[in-house]
Amino acid sequence: MFEFETSPDSSNADIYPSLARQAAALLSGETDPVANAANLAALIFHVLPDLNWAGFYFLHGRELVVGPFQGKPACVRIPLGRGVCGTAAAERRTVVVDDVNHFPGHIPCDGDSRSELVVPLLAEEGRLIGVLDLDSPRPARFTSIDAGGMERVARIYAESLSGTGTDETGEPSS
Ligand code: SME
Repeated sequence: MFEFETSPDSSNADIYPSLARQAAALLSGETDPVANAANLAALIFHVLPDLNWAGFYFLHGRELVVGPFQGKPACVRIPLGRGVCGTAAAERRTVVVDDVNHFPGHIPCDGDSRSELVVPLLAEEGRLIGVLDLDSPRPARFTSIDAGGMERVARIYAESLSGTGTDETGEPSS
């Protein structure tokens, strides 16, 4: 059984180093993209406070298709360039939205979502795999610390697929 390290305080500076350590340990030795996305979505959702959705969209052709997640059922297909997820994917950059109601083209999946953070998932050779999406019911929930922390988590996921990740001690995981 996996024991989570959690914190009720989203401004806790240790939360992302702890999340990265736990993610590396959880994905260590496994390369299956669905299994690792499912476990990582569950880890993120339980470790980070104030989330109502955490999960993956994977790139299929010119669309993002929903993958493993925690939260309410979500929109299945998002065209590249549409919404927060499609923008992050098309521009291959992290997008932080303080108020989703003021993001042109935001795609509402859960009416409780007020702010959003989307990080692109890039394979080691630079190919776009998809995005990692977090939603919060709290306006302006995500800061640059969250963006940097989740970019690290996205790299841990991408590295796990080729088995080149490191475990919690920093040693190669396979
Ligand atoms: N709000 C996202 C869609 C995905 S859900 O939040 C799970 C967007 O605008 O791309």
